[in-house]
Amino acid sequence: MMSDMSEQKCAQDVDAQGAAAENSGAADKAEGAQAAEAAAAAAATDAAETERREGGASSERAEGAQAATEEKVDGATDGAAAENSGAADKAEGASSSSEASVQREGGTENASAGETSGAFESASSDAHTRNVSEMFGRMTPWYDLQNRVFSLFLDCWWRHNLVNAVVPGPTGLVIDMASGTLDVALAVIRRYPELRVCATDICEPMLRYGEEHKIRAGERSRITTMVADARHMPLPDGCADAVTMAFGIRNVRPRMEALREMHRLLVPGGRACILEFAPVSAPLFGPAYHWYLRRIMPKLAGLVSRSTSAYDYFADTIENFPKPAAFSEELREAGFAFVQHIPFTLGVANLHIAVRG
Ligand SMILES: C[S@@+](CC[C@H](N)C(=O)[O-])C[C@H]1O[C@@H](n2cnc3c(N)ncnc32)[C@H](O)[C@@H]1O
Repeated sequence: MMSDMSEQKCAQDVDAQGAAAENSGAADKAEGAQAAEAAAAAAATDAAETERREGGASSERAEGAQAATEEKVDGATDGAAAENSGAADKAEGASSSSEASVQREGGTENASAGETSGAFESASSDAHTRNVSEMFGRMTPWYDLQNRVFSLFLDCWWRHNLVNAVVPGPTGLVIDMASGTLDVALAVIRRYPELRVCATDICEPMLRYGEEHKIRAGERSRITTMVADARHMPLPDGCADAVTMAFGIRNVRPRMEALREMHRLLVPGGRACILEFAPVSAPLFGPAYHWYLRRIMPKLAGLVSRSTSAYDYFADTIENFPKPAAFSEELREAGFAFVQHIPFTLGVANLHIAVRG
C-alpha cells in the first residue's frame, strides 16, 4: 500500500515530479525566497547560538532541560502507553458518542459548505478537539493514500522543505506536534542522525498506525510517541531545538494556545516550523483550486473511503485559515521574535518559520 512507501521512495517520486509540478516559475521564486529567507533565519539562529555560547548559564539551563525532557519523555512513554490503552478503552466506551458524531457528519455529506462548517463551528473548543480526533481516527487507514493522491505527491515535497528548516541545537530534541502517522517525525530522524523526536497527537490511532507500519528496525529508540493536545503539552519549558507541525494547526482551536506552547517548549533561538494550507487568491488558479477542494476532492474521497464529510471539513478549515501575513502576525503575538513564511505551489501550502528570541 502507498502508505508503506519509504521516505526515500517518496523523495524520489517528489524529485522526479517536483520539478515538473513546480516549474511554473513559482518554484524558482519560492526557492530563491527560501534561500534568502533561510539565510536570514540562519543569521537569527546564529545570533541566538552566540548568545547561548556566551551565556553559559543559559546553555546549562538547556542541558538541564534536556535531561529533564529525557526523563519526562522516557516517563511519558509509559504514561503514553497507559494513556493509549486508556484511550482505547475510552474509544470503545465512547462508541455511542462517536457514532453520534459519525451520524452528525453523515448528515453533512450532502450539505453545503456552510452547514458542514456549522457542525464543527458550533462546538466548544474541547468538543471540537474530540470531534477532530474521532474524525482522524476513522480515516486513519486511508490517510496516507489520500494525502498522496489528492496532492499529486506534492505533500512529500512540502514536508521535505519543512524538515530542511529544522536546525539541530543543544537539546537534540524535536517535538512534532499533530504528528499523525509520523511522516514528519520519521523524516526528521532520517535527515538528522543526531536528533530524537517526540511525536505527539490527540488521535491515538494515527500515532499507532505510524508506529506499526512505518517505523523501521533501529529507529524506534529515537521516536517517542505521546497522546497530547498541542494546546497543553506535558513537557517542560525550553526542552526542544525545534517544534514542527504539518497540516495540524488549522485543526486546533484556539490556535493561539498551541502557538504559545510551541514558544514555551523551544530553547532560545529554537524554531517553530509550521506547514499549513491557506486560501489561495492567485487569479484563475485560486478559484480553480477552491472549486477542486469543494467539488472534486470530496467525491474522490468518497470513492476511496466512502466518507466525504472529512473533506468538507478539510475545505472549511483551509478557507477559514488566515492568509500567511495574518498568520505571521499571530506568531509574533505568541512571542516569536523572528517570523517568515515561504509559499509553495502558488500558495497552496506555506512554510512558516518562527524563531524564539
Ligand atoms: C491533517 S493531519 C496531519 C498529520 C501529519 N502531521 C501529517 O503531516 O500528515 C492533522 C493531525 O492533527 C491532529 N490534531 C488536531 N488537533 C490537534 C490538537 N489540538 N493537538 C494535537 N494534535 C491535533 C489530528 O489528530 C491529526 O492527526
